[in-house]
Amino acid sequence: MAIYKDILKGKVAVITGTTSGIGKGLALGFAKQGAIVVGSGRRENLGQEVAAKIKSDGGEAMFIKTDVTDHLAIKHLIDETVNTYGRIDILVNNAAYEPTKLFMDNTYEDYRKVIDTNLGSYVMASIYALKYMKQQQSGKILNINSVTAIQQVPGVGMYSLAKAAISNLTKVIALENAKDGIRCNEINPGLILAGEFEKAEVREWAKEAIEKMTPVARLGKVEEIVHAALYLLSDEADFCNGTSLLVDGGRHLI
Ligand SMILES: NC(=O)c1ccc[n+]([C@@H]2O[C@H](COP(=O)([O-])OP(=O)(O)OC[C@H]3O[C@@H](n4cnc5c(N)ncnc54)[C@H](OP(=O)(O)O)[C@@H]3O)[C@@H](O)[C@H]2O)c1
Repeated sequence: MAIYKDILKGKVAVITGTTSGIGKGLALGFAKQGAIVVGSGRRENLGQEVAAKIKSDGGEAMFIKTDVTDHLAIKHLIDETVNTYGRIDILVNNAAYEPTKLFMDNTYEDYRKVIDTNLGSYVMASIYALKYMKQQQSGKILNINSVTAIQQVPGVGMYSLAKAAISNLTKVIALENAKDGIRCNEINPGLILAGEFEKAEVREWAKEAIEKMTPVARLGKVEEIVHAALYLLSDEADFCNGTSLLVDGGRHLI
């Protein structure tokens, strides 16, 4: 991140889902820019490893084990952050999963799980964080969304339903809270080398599809999402509010 230096210095940033993938990259990338990082997720050992890495590099971090389908656990994550560090400057809603199933094959339980994890957690974390941000008269919320919010792909209909709703959430928060010094934006990644794509066999199996679906014909890198996040969370982006930043190699054009 050579073009940025200390742009998040002293900022208290809560990120959901820092145990792997994009969330882990955001945690490490924010810490390099001086942020105090509060990570979360269910896999405590992995989350603690990320926090320990930040601390061993001279930064400040803590991990709070959180299942984002439990709204009281999310409340605890936000409250504990403010109890410990006195404020919350940044919330990044990132934790999600992508089940693949044709839409008509989903059960009620499938539907509830996707909505509670991928949408409900973004909604409730934002509501709990906004209460503090309003008191502070400052704060930034960044939603890690997906190109599937605007582009449908067979087999991920339930996931994209939640992602489309997140675009609305971003706009609602941006609209209602700007006067209190709060900004809300989203990043819409395309196919990124994270999650399932970290498995070499999945990359090999999906090689042709990746090239077909993405004009730049490759997976995006986690660092490319981190870079976009740093811009949207920097003071230089203060006029961005309710913005969707596609980082997808042009996938939305196909
Ligand atoms: N990778 C891509 O190509 C891609 C493309 C577009 C959008 N995205 C979006 O990017 C974000 C991150 O995805 P990723 O690719 O980095 O996936 P990932 O590596 O699987 O990471 C997902 C993170 O979410 C957390 N999580 C999932 N369910 C949770 C729950 N119930 N409670 C708490 N944490 C939970 C996981 O933590 P635990 O398992 O430890 O709980 C993990 O840290 C998601 O919003 C995804 O939709 C990814």
